Amino acid sequence: MKRILSLFHSGVGNTKLVAERITSFLQSKKIAVKNFSVEHFYSEKINDYEFLIIGFPTYFLEASKVMNEFIASLPRYEKQKYAFIYTTCGLFSANTLYNFAGKLHEKNIHIVHSAVYRCPATDFVLIMPSFRPTLSFENNLQSHIERDLKRTFYCFKNREINPPEFKLYSLLTKPMEAVERKNTIQINNDLCTVCGKCVRNCPHKCFSKNDNGISFEIENCENCYRCIHHCPARALSLNGKTPKILFDNAFYMC
Ligand SMILES: Cc1cc2nc3c(=O)[nH]c(=O)nc-3n(C[C@H](O)[C@H](O)[C@H](O)COP(=O)(O)O)c2cc1C
Ligand code: SF4
Ligand code: SF4
Repeated sequence: MKRILSLFHSGVGNTKLVAERITSFLQSKKIAVKNFSVEHFYSEKINDYEFLIIGFPTYFLEASKVMNEFIASLPRYEKQKYAFIYTTCGLFSANTLYNFAGKLHEKNIHIVHSAVYRCPATDFVLIMPSFRPTLSFENNLQSHIERDLKRTFYCFKNREINPPEFKLYSLLTKPMEAVERKNTIQINNDLCTVCGKCVRNCPHKCFSKNDNGISFEIENCENCYRCIHHCPARALSLNGKTPKILFDNAFYMC
């Protein structure tokens, strides 16, 4: 089998953690795999791989904008490729995987297996920090990952195509989305040390440094909340709320 490519997008760190667990497990089985964030990956390199593992967070029941834009930028491949896709979510992902599989199909990439991993909800920890069901990783995350990888390689070996199923309850979070989109990110200039981390790490270039400190432009923001969770001075907040749960602080420390 040719080498395997694992690509992920992670806003705050959950999907990155899952991607790392996937690659560690495969490497422990002596399977050659490379793992990259799509934010630091040249899409032409995909040509070298027949099998892809693609992971991304669910935002408002869709794949993250960063991942969707990355897939949109790919050509349609002449030779069929195969993929295992997964999403991380706080509660449920409804048709996130189904819709994403449709986009991959247009590129001639076909799904052999797909999975959802429940992780801390990076939005709810700010908006409703007392809503406990969304504040932790699912039980047995590691064994679920291993089970899914075994299934994936069994299906790949037999060239079985298993697109994600359509789920009827996909409209349930639409009212929540309408409320959440109104949330605004605020900068507390008294706390901000003008370290520039938010400027360097926002995937949509929403922050800029100027003579007065840092300014924020909401227009392209996709509400991933990476900036809030990883501001070292805790100077960023969502409607005045800063995170009570801290994600891996070394994440995106560039
Ligand atoms: C703006 C936003 C919207 C979200 N929408 C959903 C959702 O529709 N369903 C869900 O189950 N989780 C939702 N979540 C939770 C994330 O999917 C979950 O925390 C994910 O693991 C974050 O991954 P990351 O740390 O890699 O960014 C949302 C999170 C954010 C920030
Ligand atoms: S990451 Fe935080 S402290 Fe650093 S510049 Fe941005 S807002 Fe200021
Ligand atoms: S400004 Fe918006 S898009 Fe940029 S890191 Fe913060 S939440 Fe994400």
